[in-house]
Amino acid sequence: MHPHRPDPRTLAQQAVDTIEDFDGPYRGFRRAHAKGACFSAVFTPNGSAASLTTASHLQNTEVPAVVRFSGSNPNPNMADLLSPAKGMAVQFHLPDQSITNIVAASIPVFFARTPESFIDIMKTAAAFKQKELSLPEKIGAIIDHFSESKNAFFHLGALKPPASYATIPYYSIHAFYLVNDKGDRQAVKYEWEPDLGVHTLSAKEAKSLPSDYLEEDLIKRTGEARVRFKLNLVLGEPSDPTDDPTLIWSDQRTRLEVGTLSITGPIPEPESLVMDPTLLTPGIELSEDPILNFRHEAYAISHHRRSVME
Ligand code: HEM
Repeated sequence: MHPHRPDPRTLAQQAVDTIEDFDGPYRGFRRAHAKGACFSAVFTPNGSAASLTTASHLQNTEVPAVVRFSGSNPNPNMADLLSPAKGMAVQFHLPDQSITNIVAASIPVFFARTPESFIDIMKTAAAFKQKELSLPEKIGAIIDHFSESKNAFFHLGALKPPASYATIPYYSIHAFYLVNDKGDRQAVKYEWEPDLGVHTLSAKEAKSLPSDYLEEDLIKRTGEARVRFKLNLVLGEPSDPTDDPTLIWSDQRTRLEVGTLSITGPIPEPESLVMDPTLLTPGIELSEDPILNFRHEAYAISHHRRSVME
């Protein structure tokens, strides 16, 4: 451990505290992405990833999955329209009874490069919210803390309300390594591409919709037909950063379609569901990204607090 760096658990505790100071805590709810709905699904790999990884869900065998769609806000009562980024977390149930997750969001970059800067940015955002800062302090804070966030702010600013959870793409943001049976490692990012195409609404159109319109829409759609997403791998090249979630890879990178997720219908939330993005399976490894590596602790702390009804 770095001598001046607090241990990961302390950092994660501070991170969850800063989210609660910004908005919350809401007793019994996830400290982020509090409002969400679960669905059953089936993932059918097409075999294209088999030369890149030994992971069992990326070979030729269909596996069941649980999907939770969510709004990013810590407030579980926030209307769908008002929670800008959306989440799509998928838990694959593998043939050996183990599980692995892909946790994705509707923007391709994150606003913080490290856990420390996440904490800093959230503290600044909370101070902004409570109007504790003078104007020169605000400008100083923006310059000091938010310069690494400019890609994320750009993408957040460009987001339009989804017509449906099923009509927007979702991104893993972080890189992972796929490892094949020879031990070769390939850096990838995941993207979920909606089969229905991308459809968004104007803010005016969305304003007239009920606060739970996204969940209601998906329940209705899955009652009529399966809702599908393709899983694409973006193949990283040696110059692509694997340790910085604020940077996007070139859109020239090869995208490889490796399977289809078919969403079948709504289910109650399974007990103790934690969509930990670091829960991997042999054939997939974590990248060096410090945000990715610290999410395990942050999600465990949030899970603990919501389970004991804090
Ligand atoms: C500093 C970085 C981050 C922190 C501290 C953080 C914190 C959290 C927390 C506390 C939860 C609730 C966990 C639970 O109680 O189960 C959560 C859920 C979630 N986060 Fe993050 N997060 C971070 C980065 C990200 C990134 C980069 C993404 C996008 C890929 C993301 C997407 C999600 C999603 C989709 C959920 C909902 C999972 C579910 O449906 O159960 N988070 N986050």
